[in-house]
Order: sequence, then structure tokens, then C-alpha cells
Amino acid sequence: METFDNAVDTNTRAIGVMDSGVGGLTVLKQLLSVCPDENYIYFGDTKNLPYGGKSKAQLVEIVKEIFEFFETQKVKAVVLACNTTSATAYEELKDKYPFKIYPLIQSVARYMSADKGLLKLGVMATEATVKTKTYTKEFKKYNPDIEVIEQSCPLWVPIVENQIINYDENEAIYGYLKNVLAFNPQKIILGCTHYPYLMDKIAKYAPKELFINPAQIFARYIADDLKQNNMLNPLSGGSVHYYASSNPEHFKKNARMFMEIDEMPGLVEI
Ligand code: DGL
Repeated sequence: METFDNAVDTNTRAIGVMDSGVGGLTVLKQLLSVCPDENYIYFGDTKNLPYGGKSKAQLVEIVKEIFEFFETQKVKAVVLACNTTSATAYEELKDKYPFKIYPLIQSVARYMSADKGLLKLGVMATEATVKTKTYTKEFKKYNPDIEVIEQSCPLWVPIVENQIINYDENEAIYGYLKNVLAFNPQKIILGCTHYPYLMDKIAKYAPKELFINPAQIFARYIADDLKQNNMLNPLSGGSVHYYASSNPEHFKKNARMFMEIDEMPGLVEI
């Protein structure tokens, strides 16, 4: 394991941001607004998309490969802009790399738990995330009285990534929501970074205000932590480089729907 002995040099290094595809861009967008001077390397693992139906063992192997890539890039931190890998791979890999790792669910639960009035929570997430019950465990850590219902939505990522084009909206969107709505939660977390892209469709069945896109809270957590640990980039400017593990053109097309990205420097297949 490499250690860094020069704090200033370390702080100018990039921050890796990873997800299975374009979902993590919801987090990157927020990071760019709270920490605009950082240099980011975004990795969309389109080769292995979707993560949601994969086993924990498969996801650990996938994340290891991506972390190895980030190690070659000498990043100072990696953001798991992905609930699924935060739930499945984080615990196993958290101490094995020479960079700080930010998991989404654990970070967001910590900040959101400051609201002690939150006692009934719904979570829409991938199958792999729901299987681990990480949302329930993390929120209960801070508030044992909270009730959490977790619902998997296996069609939602393929819809966002345009792998499924023709579908019955009532079945594909409301079909997953109805159980959670019947539970009468105070809030529903969109527990997969792809899901905020479906907000307009979801809003046909329930008020928008009921839903939380945790990207903003997560970005705030990361910004506070970087500051507290004196890890912010002392230089101004900032940059983003993009990588996709397959079909970068498709990634670019999808990404453009969600971020105003004309140029994606460094967008290459690796
Ligand atoms: N966007 C990721 C998440 O937050 C992964 C979704 C997937 O590929 O299934 O869980």
C-alpha cells in the first residue's frame, strides 16, 4: 500500500467517482456545485451494467478492478456514487486501498438521521441493495425506532439506461411504488443513483415532495469531510475526466440527457 507523505501534493490529486453507468452523474453534478475546484475522474462501468441483479461476490470483484484503475490514477479519494456497491462491496474493501472511500448509503444515513422526527421511511433500490438491508441497518444505528420499508425495482435502471424502451408505465413504475405508498412513509429515498432520472414519471403516482434524491446530502457530507480532514484541493480550477468500460458513445449520449456535457474530456473505453 502506498502512503502519501506530502499533504499538499496529495490534495491536488483527483477524486474518483464511480457507478455502473450514468446514475453517478447525479452525485457528480452535486459535487461540482459544492467542490468546484476538485479534479474528478468519473468511471461509468457500462460493461457490467446493471449491478442490481449481481451477487455480492461478483460486485466485490467488479469494484476491486475499478479501485485498481483508480489506484493507477493516484486519486486521493473515491466516491461510491452507487448505492449497490456501497451496500455490497464497501465493507469488504474499505481498508485495502491508499485512498479514502465514501460510500453513499452510510454517509447519507448519518446526515439524514439528524432528523429525529423521521420515523417511517421508504426506500426504492436495486435488488442487490435491498437484499443487504443496508438502508434499514444504517438508519437504525442512529435511530432504533425508525421503521424502514425497502422495495427493489429491477426495471428502473434498464429503463434509465435505455435498455428497455417499450414498457407499461403503470406496471413498471407504479407496480413498485404501491407497496411503499401503502406503508404511508414520511419520505421515500431514491436509493439508486439512476432513479432521480425517473422523477417525472414517478411524480404521476405520488407527490414529488415525498421523494429524496440523496445526491445533494451525499455531496454535502463529502465536502464537509474533505474540509475537516484538510483534503480540499488548494488550487482553483477543477476538471472532470470521464471513462466508460464499454460503449463510450452510448454512455455519452445517455449522459448528455442528464448533464449539460458537450465535451467529455478523456471519455475512452478502458
Ligand atoms: N446506480 C447504481 C446504484 O445506485 C447501480 C444501479 C445498477 O447498475 O443496477 O445502485
